[in-house]
Amino acid sequence: MARCTQLPAWQVLQEHQWEIARQHMRDLFSADTQRFERYSIRLDDLLFDYSKNRITDKTLEHLFELARQVGLQEKITAMFRGDKINNTERRAVLHTALRNRSNRPVLVDGVDVMPGINRVLEQMRIFSNAIRSHEWRGYTGKPISDVVHIGIGGSDLGPKMVVKALTPYCRPELKVHFVSNVDEADLVETIKNLNRETTLFIVASKTFTTQETMTNALSAREWFMAGVDGKEAIAKHFVAVSTNAEKVEAFGIDTKNMFEFWDWVGGRYSLWSAIGLPIAVAVGMENFELLLTGAHKVDEHFRTEPLESNIPVLMGLLGIWYNNFFGAQTQAILPYDQYLDFLADHLQQADMESNGKSVDIEGKRLDYDTGPVIFGQAGTNGQHAFYQLIHQGSKLIPCDFLAAARSHHHLGGHHEALLSNFIAQTEALMRGKTTEEAKVELVAEGVPEDQLDMLAMAKTFPGNKPSNSFLYQSLDPETLGVLIALYEHKVFVQGSVWNINSFDQMGVELGKQLAKTVLKDMTGDESVTSHESSTNGLLNYYKSLR
Ligand code: F6P
Repeated sequence: MARCTQLPAWQVLQEHQWEIARQHMRDLFSADTQRFERYSIRLDDLLFDYSKNRITDKTLEHLFELARQVGLQEKITAMFRGDKINNTERRAVLHTALRNRSNRPVLVDGVDVMPGINRVLEQMRIFSNAIRSHEWRGYTGKPISDVVHIGIGGSDLGPKMVVKALTPYCRPELKVHFVSNVDEADLVETIKNLNRETTLFIVASKTFTTQETMTNALSAREWFMAGVDGKEAIAKHFVAVSTNAEKVEAFGIDTKNMFEFWDWVGGRYSLWSAIGLPIAVAVGMENFELLLTGAHKVDEHFRTEPLESNIPVLMGLLGIWYNNFFGAQTQAILPYDQYLDFLADHLQQADMESNGKSVDIEGKRLDYDTGPVIFGQAGTNGQHAFYQLIHQGSKLIPCDFLAAARSHHHLGGHHEALLSNFIAQTEALMRGKTTEEAKVELVAEGVPEDQLDMLAMAKTFPGNKPSNSFLYQSLDPETLGVLIALYEHKVFVQGSVWNINSFDQMGVELGKQLAKTVLKDMTGDESVTSHESSTNGLLNYYKSLR
């Protein structure tokens, strides 16, 4: 297959970029009073406004043509059909089946995966109901008050983000904690005030071999057993989520307390599987299913909507426009919602582990940019930290703004202040402030003539900074499902254009491999000489300090 950069649409876009680079969005808005209406899409109550982008009808035409030339529609069909598009691991990619509320059969190697998915959903329902109704009791007969979810990466970030996002749907008397870092401080600080009799651990690991998770799980088991008589108590306090029944059993967890998932669920796409068990426990199975419903709605939209009105397609193509034609290296995720505090962390893994690749699906080295650096923070905090660089720095950073029209709380004035900042930021980024405008303000403030030019330059904002806005009624489980699925498919669109495998993560392996050797070298007091001088130096200095 031809490289995306060799395609006619790519060449056209390169030439077109020269034209667009000279235009300011202010002028595009002045020239077209219908720009917002034309460049925004509704998906039920969610509004996706992409009008504050450096685009014209021509840009969109060329981007859609690029999508056609890379065969995007066929690639979408192949994913939903269960083709083994994760070619390095020879796996299907079917997180969409996990939330397939239509229950339409989905075949992997000729076998429908839906009955298995429904069976695990039922198991999750029974378990989460039992915990929430106090039917499930600890070894001394007390109900569970604290659930500690132990996992890392995709087995942690997704559920952690969702539980935080849905805090208003949680019960104060049932706390869900997350432990991921192998740094003992994470586990120690989490369990230090917990009661063994009322604490339940979920050990979540697709492979059940991940160093961090297994180290934390073993220490959690030790902590638990230190105060308990008899190994049978473990069954009431440890459950596992994994694809590896053998390892779960070897760890000492009865496989009847194991929640299965499958190799066609990638870690960073696994919150919809039993990896989402802490979500079901925290907010109830009905709300977990609403989350699935929201994601399914987006799946149907993504699968069936024409490219021109397909939100994830637009998100992906706009990202490509800046990444590959304007040299943008990053993307900011800016939810104006404290409950979405962990959204950027989750999307960072979803995007960067998926599209941080330098070879195509045939194993050929790429000569063009792929996945962006994803970062972000809940508004308005970011405004007082890194927005300066977005407004006046030398880098182009496309931004995504997200907010709910309604808050879960009713303290007067807060929500209006929050949303006014969201909307104003998108306007400021787009409009900017000219030197002339800055001068007029300075003169009105009585600034002396000799400082006017210098200050006016410092107060000039170039504007023309692109952003997308997502505005919806409230952050409920269904809407959250919508938002996450939109981003998952945006990642898919970009991986499809770049012709990379978005579903493996070979890049995390080398560090894991070397850590094993380094761990061995750390034992004993003798000086280490087997590495190059820096690694030897670090190891030996560590030994002298410990
Ligand atoms: O970081 C690498 C990775 O393999 C992620 O893709 C995955 O989400 C994480 O480690 C955890 O893996 P596991 O669920 O097997 O413990």
